[in-house]
Amino acid sequence: MNSLRIKQLTILIIIAICLLILVACSNDVAKSLRKVTYPPDFTYTEPAQVRSNMDELALQMRLLDQALVPPQDDDELAMERQRNEVLTSLKEMSKIATELSAGNGGSNHPYMQDYLRDFAKKVDRAKVNASFAQPNYYFAGKVSGGCTNCHRVVR
Ligand code: HEC
Repeated sequence: MNSLRIKQLTILIIIAICLLILVACSNDVAKSLRKVTYPPDFTYTEPAQVRSNMDELALQMRLLDQALVPPQDDDELAMERQRNEVLTSLKEMSKIATELSAGNGGSNHPYMQDYLRDFAKKVDRAKVNASFAQPNYYFAGKVSGGCTNCHRVVR
């Protein structure tokens, strides 16, 4: 082999190694590796999934905050519209909390399940109290406490 062939071969090998590293670090391989590195009943919550759910929660939290501002005119229609808005964002939050705790067999944050349960309970109580003939929004205003409780520990 002349030295040109050797140089070409070396470059080829380097390219192959780079490709291998790239593939190994790509998410799919990381996922299948996790099957080996985590016990089978262990659900790995993808950080990106948690993040997009959190963005959704943050959006609903903003909508809830806006909805909780007492309507300017306190006629029946405005009050009912407010109740609808409050209940809609609360329901969305329940849905997201359920999604987050979906892999219930266990999670990479076992304590997150506890906080999620606590958060879901707060949202449920807020829903019930907002549904009364005379709606009580006190607990709806307390929902954000469930966010901070969890963030204090998990983040
Ligand atoms: C059960 C625990 C828990 C609860 C309850 C919770 N969060 Fe989070 N939140 C997290 C975790 C964990 C992260 C970090 C996710 C990451 O970056 O991997 C996070 C991150 C976030 C982020 C940053 C997202 C990003 O793009 O990095 C926002 C915004 C957020 N949460 C909003 C909220 C709001 C609003 C609520 C309540 C309506 C809430 N969270 C309730 C656990 C929780």
